[in-house]
Amino acid sequence: MTQIDIIGLTKRYGTTLALDGVTLQAREGELVSLLGPSGCGKTTTLRCIAGFMDPDGGDILADGASVTDLPPQRRDFGVVFQNYALFPHLTVFENVAYGLGVRRVPKAEQRTRVAEALAMVRLQGLEDRLPRALSGGQQQRVALARALVIRPRLLLLDEPLANLDARLREEVRWLIRDVQQRARITAFYVTHDQAEAMALSDRIAVMKAGRVAQFATPREIYQRPAEAYVARFTGEANIIPVRPRDRTAGGGFHVPFGGVVLPVSGVEGIRPGDAAMLMLRPEALSITDPGAPDAIPALVLGAAFLGAALACEVSLADGMRLRLQASPHGTVQPGMTVGLAVDTAHAWLMPDIPQ
Ligand SMILES: Nc1ncnc2c1ncn2[C@@H]1O[C@H](COP(=O)(O)OP(=O)(O)OP(=O)(O)O)[C@@H](O)[C@H]1O
Ligand SMILES: [Mg+2]
Repeated sequence: MTQIDIIGLTKRYGTTLALDGVTLQAREGELVSLLGPSGCGKTTTLRCIAGFMDPDGGDILADGASVTDLPPQRRDFGVVFQNYALFPHLTVFENVAYGLGVRRVPKAEQRTRVAEALAMVRLQGLEDRLPRALSGGQQQRVALARALVIRPRLLLLDEPLANLDARLREEVRWLIRDVQQRARITAFYVTHDQAEAMALSDRIAVMKAGRVAQFATPREIYQRPAEAYVARFTGEANIIPVRPRDRTAGGGFHVPFGGVVLPVSGVEGIRPGDAAMLMLRPEALSITDPGAPDAIPALVLGAAFLGAALACEVSLADGMRLRLQASPHGTVQPGMTVGLAVDTAHAWLMPDIPQ
């Protein structure tokens, strides 16, 4: 078990600044996801940690000691990539044993450790198969066993589920979490799928153009995003430009919105009168009687039955459009005038930062 500290990594490809001071940490046994859109620097960060690429600046520490100048094989990190192809002419056993051979582990011990690793990913009995005789999910599990067999200090996974269909993705996702927790291996996990990051991670680093926009638990990131970019990337969110009026007794703000004034908590450092962004997750909004006190009048534009809920889009008097989830048992229909109630426990005020 190892703690990893990434300090101020920078990396340029020609004129592209791919990493602009990435600082991150994974404590012992923690799974940390790097989440962000295509091109934000996730793979570059992971390749620098793995040692496949030299950063231009910054440092990578394992238990306080720098590994930045060590070659990949001396870091003892296990790697699983999206297209980290297995050797096609080697059997499952030989693929998994490969890293042990390189490390000159005696044959008898290789057999025990390969059996152990295959049991962890539930692939016993497939030792003699060739990769082409395995499903995509099984191949990714072999890749995971191959990374685990060397008993790495750190596991690095770059979109390991990207090539799998939705059902397999879910299955292998839970297997990865289970194996990682049972073996208590520290791990970095790259994904651009927010649901995957939320489900798997102890902490998430949301990346934005080569920097870490926010690094916190899934709950914190979802409920208290540091900026609108993070709110949008971590689930559905209504983001509304507002100007907070003054402070509430509880340390939040009074925010004029839709003809009412909402008491809302928010990010430190916002000042009354500043341009700011109000986040209302769909669950912050509900439909009520138009005559109810503090109800905001709204027109229902659309409603889609999702089974557990009715996904609705409404517009306010000023044309502002909002999304919310209503009860599937209600009678909400397009064209209806309704009242909107805001549960300010699910509202959050953020600074107005360029996206
Ligand atoms: N070998 C390279 N040469 C030049 N530019 C590169 C190279 N690799 C990556 N880049 C650029 O560096 C930036 C970060 O790329 P990176 O692969 O780290 O992104 P990513 O977050 O992993 O994206 P994706 O989700 O698409 O995998 C991008 O602008 C990309 O175009
Ligand atoms: Mg990538």
